[in-house]
Amino acid sequence: DWTMAAFKDEAIAKIREQVGDGKVICGLSGGVDSSVAAVLLHEAIGDRLTCVFVDTGLMRHGEADQVVELFREHYNIPLVAAYEEERFLSALEGVSDPETKRKTIGKLFIDVFEENARMAGGADFLAQGTLYPDVIESVSFAGGPSVTIKSHHNVGGLPERMNMKLVEPLRELFKDEVRELGRELGLPEAFVGRHPFPGPGLAIRIPGAVTKEKADILRHADRIYIEEIRNAGLYDAIWQAFAVLLPVQTVGVMGDARTYDHVLALRAVTSVDGMTADYFPFDHDFLGRVATRIINEVRGVNRVVYDVTSKPPGTIEWE
Ligand code: XMP
Repeated sequence: DWTMAAFKDEAIAKIREQVGDGKVICGLSGGVDSSVAAVLLHEAIGDRLTCVFVDTGLMRHGEADQVVELFREHYNIPLVAAYEEERFLSALEGVSDPETKRKTIGKLFIDVFEENARMAGGADFLAQGTLYPDVIESVSFAGGPSVTIKSHHNVGGLPERMNMKLVEPLRELFKDEVRELGRELGLPEAFVGRHPFPGPGLAIRIPGAVTKEKADILRHADRIYIEEIRNAGLYDAIWQAFAVLLPVQTVGVMGDARTYDHVLALRAVTSVDGMTADYFPFDHDFLGRVATRIINEVRGVNRVVYDVTSKPPGTIEWE
């Protein structure tokens, strides 16, 4: 009978077979998947693995520090941290098409991985925490053509030409299985249980062109939202919750002054595997409390709305 411990051993054997005596670079996005992949790879090939964490400037609040600490202190796995906020933000300047954003980010991730691989003496393989649902990136509608909804890759759309071969040890797993594997590998529960976070990060939660100012506003609002969800004891009942900063400004009133600021949308869904999802039925007191806090505490937002779209027909992320 199938156990996660057996899967782990098998996965390690497969990695050793694929990689031989080659070197692997593993891109860490800050999420659960790439972290589990990295720890698994480290068990399989030890110091022939170099982990690279890219701080894109598009992470959630505190995320970069958490990842660096987990790898360096908890596991003692060497980690290169590349602070590339300016580079990502300047590549995204003026880019508002969602697929162009994903591809721009995906290409830049590969550039940064390759540079760091070169500095670490070269790498033959790039490892990613791609899951089974990420593999099914095109959805076939009954009787219709196959349509790509989003360039779903761990780093948000890989370039077609890349010098390294891919290692994707989680390709057959669903999210709940990755979490179980993470526990098997000794990852702390607080880390394993975190909501999923997409490779392209906050960029796909800022419809329209991304700026540092917008990323900062969104990060602040998102932090408050998640904090309230935790305070209400709802974090584990929700598959994923996040805020989206809309490229729309509306009129409001603060004290006796007129405001003209951004609309922020809150999203929260329940799901088993991310392939279908229902919006989470928060009670109105909760939503009102979050809206009040965000509008009072986050400069630049004067209106909050709640997204009640399920998947399908919506997707979980807005882009
Ligand atoms: P959608 O928006 O397609 O998202 O309903 C389904 C799940 O996938 C996550 N997602 C991504 N994860 N790289 C990732 O690693 C990506 O490019 C990407 N795009 C979406 C999304 O957050 C949700 O959990």
